[in-house]
Amino acid sequence: MKVFVTQAQPEPSVSDLLREHEVVTGQAGLPFSELQNLVADADAILATPPVRISRELIENAPKLKIVANGAVGTDNIDLLACKERGIPVTNTPGVLTEATADLTWALILCVARKIRAAEAVARSGRWDGWKPTDFLGMSLSGKTLGIYGLGRIGSAVARRGEAFGMRIIGMTEADSRTVFERLLSESDVLSLHCPLTEKTRNRFSTAEFQRMKTGSILINTARGGVVDTGALIEALDSGRLSGAGLDVYPEEPRIDPRLLPREDVVLLPHIGSGTVEARLAMARTASSEIRRALAGEPVVNRVV
Ligand code: DGY
Repeated sequence: MKVFVTQAQPEPSVSDLLREHEVVTGQAGLPFSELQNLVADADAILATPPVRISRELIENAPKLKIVANGAVGTDNIDLLACKERGIPVTNTPGVLTEATADLTWALILCVARKIRAAEAVARSGRWDGWKPTDFLGMSLSGKTLGIYGLGRIGSAVARRGEAFGMRIIGMTEADSRTVFERLLSESDVLSLHCPLTEKTRNRFSTAEFQRMKTGSILINTARGGVVDTGALIEALDSGRLSGAGLDVYPEEPRIDPRLLPREDVVLLPHIGSGTVEARLAMARTASSEIRRALAGEPVVNRVV
């Protein structure tokens, strides 16, 4: 059977688990017509975040039996269109939790301790020695870490926060407005770990930033669409936020050019799950789901 893999995967994954099938590998940024041709006769798609699996693609793939996302977030796939056709969609929960939590902490530490600005000075040849007033960051011990989205990754970030002596507060989508207000008003560091849905799109905008603590820090390793970038820039300019750490953006790979020169913002190119171990496990998890579905067996991590 034909498996369309949207981007090359770390191996051994596809080459091992899908060796009985015909595998065709694409890449991000293909023109839609080319993507449509590649998907049209596919029995399975191994999808990845940059490649949108739209309703139009799904409706024009009559043989399609599964869309296995090589990621935990599934906002790149039209879930409703798959559900209507009875096509299972799977994701990769669990295997990237610790990698993403580690990366979230890399951002927290970089922003809190002004690593971007300090590292630039150290490299520049312009450093003129230790000063009591240089690069003063935020001590994390005793501060409050707020987690928006206390799922697997949010909880793993929270556990690390305890080791740093932070007080942890958090919430899930099901929690009340009051819990949300408390998260905004009490967090010194607010870290986002929710999926991107119609409910969470631009969840953090001007009104929310205005209710955050002066000097607080925002970290986003979830999805760019959860944060209104214009409002974030205003909150940084006004001093409401003292810094931000971003791994994700609303229209990747585009990064709002206003963010690029800022020293109070640390920018990463969506590498939350970017460890050898996690990315291989993601590729193997998605490949295994396809192998099962094409053998007529039940899938494991079904989203719809
Ligand atoms: C995911 O799994 O959703 C990540 O964003 C990919 O790193």
